[in-house]
Amino acid sequence: MVPATTPVVQSGGGGGGASARFNTGYDSHVRDRYASRTVADSGMYLLPHLDRLYNDDKTHGSVSNIDSQQEQGRRQKEDGHSKPAFTFLDVGCGPGSITIDFAQRFPGAFFMGVDPGESFVSAATSRAAELGVDNVLFVVGDVFELEDAVNRGIKSSGMEETFGADGVSFDVVSCHQVLSHLSPSQRDRALRNMHAAARKDGQQQAGDGSGGGGGIVAAREADIEGLMSIHPETRLLSRWRRLFYSVLRATHLSNEPSVSSSSSTPAAAQGTEDKDELEKRYPGLGSTFAGKYLLSTALSTGLWTRRQVAVTGSLNSHSEQAEKDAWVASIAPMLEDVGSSWNKRAVEYLTSASSLSGGASGQEGEDKMRGLTKDEALSMMRDVAGAWRDWARDDSAWLGIGSCEIVCRC
Ligand SMILES: C[S@@+](CC[C@H](N)C(=O)[O-])C[C@H]1O[C@@H](n2cnc3c(N)ncnc32)[C@H](O)[C@@H]1O
Repeated sequence: MVPATTPVVQSGGGGGGASARFNTGYDSHVRDRYASRTVADSGMYLLPHLDRLYNDDKTHGSVSNIDSQQEQGRRQKEDGHSKPAFTFLDVGCGPGSITIDFAQRFPGAFFMGVDPGESFVSAATSRAAELGVDNVLFVVGDVFELEDAVNRGIKSSGMEETFGADGVSFDVVSCHQVLSHLSPSQRDRALRNMHAAARKDGQQQAGDGSGGGGGIVAAREADIEGLMSIHPETRLLSRWRRLFYSVLRATHLSNEPSVSSSSSTPAAAQGTEDKDELEKRYPGLGSTFAGKYLLSTALSTGLWTRRQVAVTGSLNSHSEQAEKDAWVASIAPMLEDVGSSWNKRAVEYLTSASSLSGGASGQEGEDKMRGLTKDEALSMMRDVAGAWRDWARDDSAWLGIGSCEIVCRC
């Protein structure tokens, strides 16, 4: 469908800015954690919708399991059918493991992954080529310049015919754990751009009076504050929890145009541990992760009515040794690798003085979390990394993270 070794499409220049503001950064341990994600742990909520699109497509007939779908896809290619059963845009695809998994499950459909991280896009492209998955294309690009990124991808791969003269629109526009890394007003803009990229009068018929005969916009986002359960949660792991939230809030602050333009204080250096105070000053910035607000964010765009949005939830569990090891392999370097993106942000936070909640000692009764020397900050982060390693050695340890999922019919 697309060349077997699809090229990395270079960014028009917009990717670098977004990369610089991406909270967890593009270090290899971060990439490896995302690259272990699959449809089974991250995309099951979409499968019934994709199955329906695939089975409704005239060239496929009805197929309900992966083997049959793959066989159908192979036959379709041999028969020379080039029109995909459906088109799928994965926004913020990271290293592409979920996109590729979907592409393998639906070989007669066409998938495009867009991400501002050039190293992520490069890894995704290589992985697709290694696996021989040729119905997926990865493009460097940003959700804020989505149309531009998509058009570059389509042009470079000669896929113009697939989309026709009326412009490029997709049956499914999806993102996974991307909105959580954006500030509230950016989440709104991102959903609007995703809506703009979705087909408005396409193949999908809701048939249930919920409106919409076009494509779908879908998102799955964690609620790390409300739905993260750690057992056993030692004092050091509670520190990690607070530090993680605080660094993410500081990143949201620095990404939020309304804050950056109205404040002369460097955003990352503002006190951010007092969530209530922050919420009062800058509505929406008190929460670090987007999951809890996913439905309200979608509805507040005014693009969908409540009946057009299906909402589900699911949990990622870390309890098997391999799951715990993978978690620690990603978290420990963030804490310990001096110079990694997240480590730098955390040190900046821990060594800055508090301005919101008054005083460098953090909230009353809690451990000192701000106003540390650099050595104290690094030493504390090494201790926290050690606490995660201890956690992974504990047979009774468990970490659960819940996510909200929305499917919006256009
Ligand atoms: C937590 S990762 C998720 C990656 C992938 N969706 C997954 O679940 O494995 C968040 C992704 O969002 C991407 N991202 C950050 N800012 C973005 C933006 N402005 N536009 C598009 N993607 C963005 C990052 O580059 C990163 O790959």
